[in-house]
Amino acid sequence: MDLTISRATTLKDRPEDSDLTFGTLFTDHMFNMDYNPEKGWHNPRIEPYTNIDMDPSTMVLHYGQAIFEGLKAYRTDTGDVQLFRPKENFARFNRSARTMCIPEFDEGFALDALKQLIEIEKEWVPKTTGTSLYIRPTIIAMDPFVGVRASHTYRFFIILSPVGAYYKEGFNPVKIWVTKEHVRAVRGGVGHVKTAGNYAASLLAGDKAQKAGYSQVLWLDGVEQKYVEEVGSMNIFFVFNDELVTPELSGSILPGITRDSVLALATSWGIKTTERKISIDEIFDAHKNGSLKEVFGTGTAAVVSPVGVVKYGDDIITIGNGEVGPVSNRFFSALTDIQYGKTEAPAGWIEKV
Ligand SMILES: Cc1ncc(COP(=O)(O)O)c(C=O)c1O
Repeated sequence: MDLTISRATTLKDRPEDSDLTFGTLFTDHMFNMDYNPEKGWHNPRIEPYTNIDMDPSTMVLHYGQAIFEGLKAYRTDTGDVQLFRPKENFARFNRSARTMCIPEFDEGFALDALKQLIEIEKEWVPKTTGTSLYIRPTIIAMDPFVGVRASHTYRFFIILSPVGAYYKEGFNPVKIWVTKEHVRAVRGGVGHVKTAGNYAASLLAGDKAQKAGYSQVLWLDGVEQKYVEEVGSMNIFFVFNDELVTPELSGSILPGITRDSVLALATSWGIKTTERKISIDEIFDAHKNGSLKEVFGTGTAAVVSPVGVVKYGDDIITIGNGEVGPVSNRFFSALTDIQYGKTEAPAGWIEKV
């Protein structure tokens, strides 16, 4: 397949790094590719950023057959632009495709197209500490049809958005709220992939948490509502004394690339790591007996998000006096140093653009 490139004739104004927020502004170009059963994936192209023209009956609008990814390009001190473990994102994207009855794509081709797109948009990669270029690959069902079945046609697109530093107000712990009223995902469902409906399903609980003064929901498993699964749209880690523990991938948890990176770094540093079921009662007991040292979330947006307060029913616990602990700090520094090219990365983690 040949990638065609058509350049925008007028370019947008680029904001100052200090004015960047998250996800509101997009670059001048995008990648597009189409699928139909006759041609398979075809017509890959980089072209000016534009609307998608669709019939009101287009399937994605009705049944949510949509998948996406989220990753970032980082600018190093020497001005280079690099991606953090992008092959993992495209592998997960294809797993999401399989789960949602969407035809798989060639991961190598997609990564190559992404690199070419970023090369064209290089000036959009911000330069100040903590800023980055957020990358959103997406596939949506395109048949104009309102019957329930998998679509026959699809659009694959990649858009890019320069984003500001996540921790503009400092690396502060968040307060999280455990819900038994709502669940995010269940075993046998689609919680282990990045499909649009998972996020729609999480909104009401998120809203309730916010109204109660908490920034994220701590999700319990969908069957017994006993075991911890994720926090907001991040994976979750606990430090019990000197051991790092995270919920095992049960089928309803998204296998985060940051999660995998934290586990790999911890192992390389000689920290004991365990992936297992962790009940919410165990967390509160460990807090009581003093063995719960730290709690933090992990994900591409925040990298590491320390948790300071957990509310479960009428019980509220404060972890580490509500301050950021040394383990959270160490992972945040190590990962961001790798992402911004300040230290050497484990083999295969960094792809230069
Ligand atoms: C539900 C959910 N869990 C966890 C994560 C963290 O994944 P990653 O570390 O790959 O960003 C994300 C974000 O992608 C997510 O949407």
